[in-house]
Amino acid sequence: LTAACGLSIMATGALADPAGCDSGETVVKFSHVTNSDKHPKGIAAALFAERVNAEMDGKMCVEVYPNTTLYDDDALLEAMLQGDVQMGAPSLSKFETFTKVYQIYDLPFMFKNIAAVDEFQNSEQGQEMKSAMERRGISGLEYWHNGMKQMSANRPLIQPEDAKGLKFRVQPSDVIIAQFEALGASAQPMAFSEVYGALQTGVVDGQENTWANIYGQKFHEVQDGITETNHGVLDYLVVASTDWLDGLDADVREQMLTILNEVTVERNGAVNEVDDEARQAILDAGSEIRELDEQQRQAWVDAMKPVWEQFAEGVGQDNIDAAQAINE
Ligand code: LMR
Repeated sequence: LTAACGLSIMATGALADPAGCDSGETVVKFSHVTNSDKHPKGIAAALFAERVNAEMDGKMCVEVYPNTTLYDDDALLEAMLQGDVQMGAPSLSKFETFTKVYQIYDLPFMFKNIAAVDEFQNSEQGQEMKSAMERRGISGLEYWHNGMKQMSANRPLIQPEDAKGLKFRVQPSDVIIAQFEALGASAQPMAFSEVYGALQTGVVDGQENTWANIYGQKFHEVQDGITETNHGVLDYLVVASTDWLDGLDADVREQMLTILNEVTVERNGAVNEVDDEARQAILDAGSEIRELDEQQRQAWVDAMKPVWEQFAEGVGQDNIDAAQAINE
């Protein structure tokens, strides 16, 4: 079975071959949905590939497929379990059918900034959570940061009431759906690659995402400005199939995981810079960014935070308490 799998991976690798992999190297297809430059995930995936391909030459070869050129996030995990793709880094909102533990990241106003997210992830609880999907065959390897989410629509959003009656594109997360319902809005789950078109044609009125994702997909071009709500986080889990990982030679696996860890530390440390650049690029493109005063922001907190109650049991009150303690 292993030999047959290896052959089929090599054969497909030889067809696509964007990294120029040599025969005999274990080809690792890394599939993701964002742009590759000026983006925290795009930069990290490219750096990971560059380092593996230089330092593990002859042993392993990473091919990165950005921009949904291979799979959208819905298809990715199934393809990974089938052995058609080896690695990816979906946002933590994309794993709900596999586990509920990552719902903590979708709860509005749970983390005050990415430094707090980082601290939570590096705690014992956060590290333990990485293996939540192993019984389903998916191993969590590293957390990668993107940033805080902002909100936009086809009309200015200043007060929570401004969102009433609008339809927002969401990632497939019950928590995020509940968040928009709490605003009197409706939510439509949709693949990332379809959002620009849906905003442009009015299939949905608004969306929430990070500066890098808004800029990378040009959402600001088809929205009436962006409101700087910082109301939630969008962060990633780098994943691989547990079977595939277990099937690697131990020294190859260790070297690959060490490189992945070093890339994670380096790129997570630089995430605020990438985020700020994306925010500035949106301003430079002539779009309006609306900042909220303290009273306005509190109104959004009051409107959205009650959804915690619906999910506290699944997420675990101890996890919520640990996250909150970090914010203080
Ligand atoms: C989204 O679907 O909005 C994000 O998860 C996309 C991404 O990978 O950042």
